[in-house]
Amino acid sequence: MDVHNVELTISAVDPAQYPAEGYPEIALSGRSNVGKSSLINTLINRKNYARTSSQPGKTQTLNFYNIEDELYFVDVPGYGYAKVSKKDREKWGKMIEKYFETRSELRGVISLVDARHEPTELDCQMIEFLHYYNLPILVVGTKIDKIARGKWNKSESIIRKKLKLYPEDEVVLFSAVTKTGKDQVWEWIEKHTN
Ligand code: GTP
Ligand code: MG
Repeated sequence: MDVHNVELTISAVDPAQYPAEGYPEIALSGRSNVGKSSLINTLINRKNYARTSSQPGKTQTLNFYNIEDELYFVDVPGYGYAKVSKKDREKWGKMIEKYFETRSELRGVISLVDARHEPTELDCQMIEFLHYYNLPILVVGTKIDKIARGKWNKSESIIRKKLKLYPEDEVVLFSAVTKTGKDQVWEWIEKHTN
């Protein structure tokens, strides 16, 4: 999709605040700093629309981005940031559980992992959770510009194996710097929202 019109409709904590148009939604999840906001910016051809920062744990609400009045991207706050208090972590868990469990507009989840490292235990738990809810999954391995091309295949197979992906789960290696993988991510999104 060639995106021109994007609007951050709402930063929601509670289901009562979710948008009501019924547009299909694609959620983006992953640990803090993995590159969720950067992926959104790349997909919508903007430099810094979804706020990126080198300060992890910044995004603390579900941010709904209206894309051309056709769909929503839902930027899910990152997990696994050590400095977040236990109480905030519980709040986070409840918020995303409620969303994934009840949101009928949700068509699929893009789960981001840092392609430079083995997926973490929390990455594995997120995939388990998404499998449990039977949600279509696209795993995006981020920051691929930092890995030599000769190691991309290896990186992808480590991701598949460690996350125990199902054959129907898709993997795309991506870079917000070089835009590698952008078209494949859009293809997956369009397949699941049309
Ligand atoms: P939270 O909102 O805190 O959960 O983080 P996030 O997942 O939204 O990460 P964000 O997009 O803010 O990116 C975190 C940092 O990683 C920023 O400094 C980005 O510039 C950098 N980054 C993101 N994607 C890439 C990439 O593909 N390549 C490189 N080299 N850096 C990236
Ligand atoms: Mg973010």
